[in-house]
Amino acid sequence: MERTLVLVKPDGVQRGLIGEIIARLERRGLKLVAAKFLSVPKDLAEVHYAVHKGKSFYDGLIRYITSAPVMAMVWEGENAIAAVRQTMGATRPVEAAPGSIRHDFALEVGRNLTHASDSPETALSEIAIWFKPEELVNWQRPIDDWVFGKN
Ligand code: RTP
Ligand code: MG
Repeated sequence: MERTLVLVKPDGVQRGLIGEIIARLERRGLKLVAAKFLSVPKDLAEVHYAVHKGKSFYDGLIRYITSAPVMAMVWEGENAIAAVRQTMGATRPVEAAPGSIRHDFALEVGRNLTHASDSPETALSEIAIWFKPEELVNWQRPIDDWVFGKN
C-alpha cells in the first residue's frame, strides 16, 4: 500500500477549499493517515522544494508556499501516488483534465492549490520532511476490502 504527501497550498486554504479537497480524496477511497495545519517555515519550504532550486520560479514558489498556512496530509491506498496526482490534475491548471481539482478550481500554475508527491521515493522523503513517524496513524477501516479488494 502506498502513502503520499498532499499539501493544500496557501491559495487552497485562503479560498476555503480544504474541505473540498479532502472530500474528493475520501470519496475516491483513499485513507487519511496524518494531517496538520501549519504556517510553513522558510527552511521547511526550501527543503521541500530543493529539487526546484535555481529554476526561474523558485523564489516565487518559496514566497507562495510560506505566504499563508497550508494543510499537510498523508493519504494511503493502492497506487495512491498516481491516484492522487490524477485527482489533482496536471501542474498547469489549463492542461489539467476536466473533473480534476486543478481543472475545476484553478487557472494559474502559480496558484495551483495542491501539492502531491510524484514517485515512491519522493513520497517517502517528503513524508519524513513534514511528519514525525509517530504522527502517522495506523488504523483499520472495515470498508477497506470494498475499496482495495482484488478478485
Ligand atoms: P507539486 O510539486 O506542487 O505537486 O506540483 P507538480 O509536481 O505538479 O509541479 P512541479 O513541477 O513539481 O512544480 C512545483 C510547483 O512549482 C510551481 N511552478 N511554477 N511558473 C512556473 O512555470 C512554475 N512551474 C512550477 C507550481 O506551484 C508547481 O505546483
Ligand atoms: Mg512536484
